[in-house]
Parts: sequence; structure tokens; C-alpha cells
Amino acid sequence: KDKMSSGKQTFGNLLCTILIINFIAAFCFFCYTKYSESSFSLLSCSYQTKPSSQPLFLENRSDRDKEELLILVWTWPFSVHFLLGGCDKVLNTPADCSFTLDRSKYSTADAVIVHHRDNCGSRQSLPQQPRPFYQRWIWFNMESLSNSPNLDFMNNLFNLTISYRLDSDVFSPYASLKLMKEHKNYTIPKKSKLVAWAVSNWNPNSVRVKYYQELKKYINIDVYGRQHGKLDRGKTSSVISQYKFYLAFENSLHTDYITEKLWRNSFTSGTVPVVIGPPRENYEKFVPSNSFIHINDFKSPEELAKHLKFLDQNEEEYKKYFNWREYMEVQFNEWPRKHYCKACEFLRQNKFYRTVRNLRNWYI
Ligand SMILES: *[C@@H]1O[C@H](CO)[C@@H](O)[C@H](O)[C@H]1NC(C)=O
Ligand SMILES: *[C@@H]1O[C@H](CO)[C@@H](O)[C@H](O)[C@H]1NC(C)=O
Ligand SMILES: *[C@@H]1O[C@H](CO)[C@@H](O)[C@H](O)[C@H]1NC(C)=O
Repeated sequence: KDKMSSGKQTFGNLLCTILIINFIAAFCFFCYTKYSESSFSLLSCSYQTKPSSQPLFLENRSDRDKEELLILVWTWPFSVHFLLGGCDKVLNTPADCSFTLDRSKYSTADAVIVHHRDNCGSRQSLPQQPRPFYQRWIWFNMESLSNSPNLDFMNNLFNLTISYRLDSDVFSPYASLKLMKEHKNYTIPKKSKLVAWAVSNWNPNSVRVKYYQELKKYINIDVYGRQHGKLDRGKTSSVISQYKFYLAFENSLHTDYITEKLWRNSFTSGTVPVVIGPPRENYEKFVPSNSFIHINDFKSPEELAKHLKFLDQNEEEYKKYFNWREYMEVQFNEWPRKHYCKACEFLRQNKFYRTVRNLRNWYI
């Protein structure tokens, strides 16, 4: 191996470069899946230890006026760099905020946004200097309690919250339904298959895997994911859309925790979601009752399988699950830019004092 000719060396260098590029690509993909799959096997608390003072894509805002708030972004969430600011355009509002990652501006910042998963290692990860009396710390987290380690030391530190929970100060769901001004004729994608499930985090003891093990005894289910059938990211939607039903099984069951599994994998793909997650009433706060099938609607997996087979044979009944699409459409929140912009808007409109005493008790 050590006796490479110079030709081999050039080839070796080339190979090395390709490997590095692959590694970077894999890492970006990793970050992306971290967010979009919301399924973590490793509950690590730091994706980034050093702040980047020279952010790559930060918009320059030299025209910051005196009224404009300065928001310090403590770390890039999951180390993902993205375009900050431009909130007037993102939210269609009259004003913007000025965002910075420069920690030397801490003492003049109106607010500091802390993304939980990158800073939950210890109190040391959070700002150490005295806090100006007007400065508000904002806790940002899109993961469920089960995927949010070390919540305890976040108690009595924050003033505001951004999360998928409806009772957050800045409510930022993964997506939401938007009423359309006009009716639209929705065409159900052509169906040739019955039930699909894409799962990346296969935990044999989880509620969803146990349920699947029972359900598959009564109905055929095609499983995609790491240990199963391969599903190229770009093709997810076109593959899933061929199925009549999609198992939108959340990785953990928590109030308001309804993720991409419903919004993107099911709704955007034009299939009917069968959900495991919070109770039906909770789903109905966000989506119409006839847009999904909840496993709790059935006594057993066997009963659910019967219903799915019934719908498979009854076109008219099946179509009813698509009625809402005539007057609503899915609207995604551009992550995380839109969440930060909503925080900007909230800060501009609300100047009240607040302290989040027990973050852990609230975030259940
Ligand atoms: C932003 O400002 C920095 C420092 O003034 C400058 O070097 C950089 O080119 C500017 N970037 C853009 C996109 O205008
Ligand atoms: C929707 O379908 C109805 C009935 O087929 C038709 O009259 C109407 O023009 C369609 N609307 C649109 C926007 O295509
Ligand atoms: C924010 O919360 C901290 C911690 O409880 C508190 O000391 C501070 O006064 C609060 N500030 C504002 C502006 O609400």
C-alpha cells in the first residue's frame, strides 16, 4: 500500500478529494435528516461548540434603524446555516429585526435565541455575562420532550418560548393548513398500492413498532427506511403517493407533536395518514377530523386493518378523506428562518416581562 507510484498518488489525491466531498455531503444530509425526520438515536447536546462570528449567509443590514430590534442567535440550530432576517418579506410585515451571531454584541442585544439541542450540555453553554434588564432569552426547540435532554437546567432562565406547542409564546408548528380563497379541484394521485411506512429510527420497544408488528398480521405493509426498502429522498413523495394509506407514526407521543410524517409524507404526497401520536382531539386542533385515520378509533390493529381494506374497496368512502383539499392547503414553515422571524414579530409587538419558571413541567 505504501509503495504508490506518482500516478497512483494523483489518483489517491483525487480519491481523497472525492471522499472529503462525499463526507461533507453526507454531513449536510445528516443535518437535514436530523431535522426532517425528527428521530434521534443519539441525544447529543452539542452540534457546535464554537460560535461562528462570520456567518456565511447572514444578510447585511447596515440600514438598521433605531427602532429595529437586535436579536443574537446564540448558535446555528443543528449547525445549519441559513438566511437570517428579511422578516418583513417572510411574514409580510412592515418591519424587520437585525440578527447577528456575533456574541460580542450580547450586551446590546434585545433578545437572545437559544436552540435547545445545541446548548443543552450544561449551563456553561449559555451566556455567562450579566443580562441587560430589557433583554429577553428565547428558548427554541422543535423536538419532543422525549428527544430533549437536560431540560431541568433551563428552568428560571428564559422569558419566551418558540416551539411546536400551541401554548408557546411563538407558536411554530412544522406546518399548518391554510384556507384558500377559492375552491380547488384536487386530483387524488393514481393508486396502485395499499399501505406504506417510512421509518428511520427503528426501536423494537416503541409504541409504533409494536403496533406495526400487530397490524402487519392483517394487512400488507411496505416498509421503507434504513433497515428496509430503500427510498431516495428526492423520490419519497412520488413513491408514497402510489399508496392509499401512509403510517404517520410519530416517534414519541406528546401534546401537539405532529411532524413531517403527517404534513409532508402524508398530505403532500396525496395519501391518507393513519396516525399514532397525541389523541384524536389534539390532531383536530390542527387538521379536519376527516383528513386522517387515528389508531385509537379502532379497538385493535385487526379492526383498523379491516377498515383500511373496506376503504380500499369503496372508492366513494376513500375519497371523503380528501374533501378538505378543496378549500385548504398545506403551508410549511420555512425552517428555521420563519420561526426566527415570528420571534422578531412577537418581540416587536409584546414588551411584557415574563419568566419561564419551570420549563420542564410545561414541556410535557
Ligand atoms: C457584508 O459586510 C461585510 C463587512 O462589511 C462585507 O465584507 C461583505 O461583503 C458584505 N456582504 C454582503 C453580502 O453584502
Ligand atoms: C372543478 O370541477 C367542476 C366540476 O367538474 C368544474 O365545474 C369546475 O370548473 C372545476 N374548477 C376548476 C377550478 O377547475
Ligand atoms: C427574563 O427572565 C429572567 C430569569 O427569570 C429574569 O431575571 C429577567 O428579569 C426576565 N427579563 C424579562 C425582560 O422578562
